[in-house]
Amino acid sequence: MVIMDKKVVEEFVQKKLINDCSGHDFMHVQRVVNMALKLSNQVPASDKDIVLLSAYLHDIIDEKVVVDVDKAKILLNEKLNQWNISSSKIGKIFEIIENISFSKNLEKKYELSIEGQIVQDADRIDAIGAIGIARAFYYGRHIGNPLHDTKFSARSNLTEKSYREENTVINHFHEKLLKLEELMNTDIAKDIAKERTIFMRDFLKRFYQEWNGEK
Ligand code: ADP
Ligand code: NI
Repeated sequence: MVIMDKKVVEEFVQKKLINDCSGHDFMHVQRVVNMALKLSNQVPASDKDIVLLSAYLHDIIDEKVVVDVDKAKILLNEKLNQWNISSSKIGKIFEIIENISFSKNLEKKYELSIEGQIVQDADRIDAIGAIGIARAFYYGRHIGNPLHDTKFSARSNLTEKSYREENTVINHFHEKLLKLEELMNTDIAKDIAKERTIFMRDFLKRFYQEWNGEK
């Protein structure tokens, strides 16, 4: 990172996420940071400081991770000031981390900066493929949703509110995970997502075969 020591940011984020058991732990953040950096290297016009800081901080003001979102935002703003990040950069970072989530973009699509598009792609890549499968079941267990149950059907036209209502983990693949490939912003993320989506489709095919006693 050009503007400051990344160890300081890492320590801050690590502390915030230490108790997470919903799949938004520090290891998730590190994967998103690494992926965001990889994508950013393919997009020369992107500001690496904004990409890195937003990737590190993208989950610490999320309702899934913190109890009081407004308080978390105030604390983060104070931290960024303490780290001498300019108010223009702080504004850009908040603009990204407040608007990249899947649920926020269900009813209207936020226009994100190129750095926001990169961090959103990196976060979404971590929700698909083998890691995505593991995280979906882990998160499903965390919120007490069933694995698979044919009495639930996959919903279309989801809203921010209905997205969080009870359903099965398997339906989550149809409602979100299989759709992410199409929603990627950058070409490089689209290529990565394509391959990971094939892997998820194979997994689901096999899951249904075993469920139905065919394998
Ligand atoms: P965002 O932060 O973009 O709104 P989500 O909250 O939808 O994203 O998802 C964060 C992680 O939790 C992802 O890996 C996602 O697949 C998983 N997840 C979210 N909702 C569910 C659900 N109902 N069942 C299983 N996994 C879920
Ligand atoms: Ni995330």
